[in-house]
This record gives sequence, C-alpha cells and structure tokens, in this order.
Amino acid sequence: YSQKLISFKRKDMKDNIALIGFMGSGKTTVGKLLAKTMDMKFVDIDKVIEAQEKKSINDIFQKQGQTYFRDLEREVISQESLKNDCVIATGGGSILDNENIKRLKETSFIVFLNASIECLYLRLKDNSTRPILNGVEDKKKLIEELLEKRKFLYQISADYIIDINEYTNIYETVDRIKEAYIIS
Ligand code: S3P
Repeated sequence: YSQKLISFKRKDMKDNIALIGFMGSGKTTVGKLLAKTMDMKFVDIDKVIEAQEKKSINDIFQKQGQTYFRDLEREVISQESLKNDCVIATGGGSILDNENIKRLKETSFIVFLNASIECLYLRLKDNSTRPILNGVEDKKKLIEELLEKRKFLYQISADYIIDINEYTNIYETVDRIKEAYIIS
C-alpha cells in the first residue's frame, strides 16, 4: 500500500501536508496513517509541545494558562513547518492565530478534516485530555459553539476540505487526501 514519496513528489508541490480541524476530527489518527502510506514523516504539534515542556497539555493549561500554551504552539508550528516531507497534525485551536496559518501555508498543503458535530461529540464525550472541554456540563453545546466560531477559519485556511462523519472509512479519507495532494 505504501508508495515511495519519490514516485509522486514534484518540485512545485508543497513540502508538507498539514491537517487542521476541531478536536476529535481525527488529525492524529489520519495523519499517522497518511504519513505511513505516503512514506512521509509524522509530526504532532501537541506531542512536540508536551515533549518540550515535559508536561501534558492539560497540565500546561492548568499551570501556565492558555496564553502560555498558544505562545508555545506558535513557536512549535513555526519551527516544525520548516521541515520537509512531513504530515503535520496541528492542534484544533491553531487556526485562531493568523501567524500559524501563514506559516503553515508557506510550506504545507492544508487539509481541513470537517467532522460532523455528532462524530465529534461521540469521540469527545468521554475524553478528558482536552482542557477546553473538561468540567463542562453540556459538552455538546460547547462543541457546537466553538465550532461555529472556528469553522470559517478552518474553511478559509484549507486547500482541501474533507467531510467526515462517524461512518467514514479512514482508508478512504487517506486515499482522498493523497489524491488531492498529488494533483495539487
Ligand atoms: C485545542 C485542541 C487540542 C490542544 C489543546 C487546545 C483547541 O488539540 O491543542 O487542547 O483549542 O481546540 P487537538 O485538536 O489535537 O485535540
């Protein structure tokens, strides 16, 4: 299944593929498989931040606050987006910062994983690794509100948008992204 990068990569193509989308849209899962399939490296921005700080995202939010996290996120995106042949999974809030979008656009083909509310809610309802959603009574409502505020940013940042629901097959998703990237 894996296809050597050299067989499809043209000089005029963007170096990386960046995945954007809401928490729970599958950026990490899809990104790992996509990278493997396309013989590219996988970079998870949240994981780089956690390794650098030696703390979980939850701990960083709790101890240093969201502004501190966003500053780190901006630094790490700017540094990681300069790499080559990477699939980059970004954090769901990274598009809130113009500079992040600009940096990613310079080097990456940007794909928005547009997961449905139902799909997001199913994946996030019992998850406690997202500080923004922790301790909230009506998680579904908050997801809807946040998505409402962010959707436009995901859309205008993207070179390619892929709709995802709870039945979407991950191999199909990966194939479609691969195709879109190759013809980009
Ligand atoms: C956030 C999304 C998270 C993580 C942090 C903030 C957000 O990443 O960066 O909890 O604001 O949407 P995932 O999208 O990988 O969950």
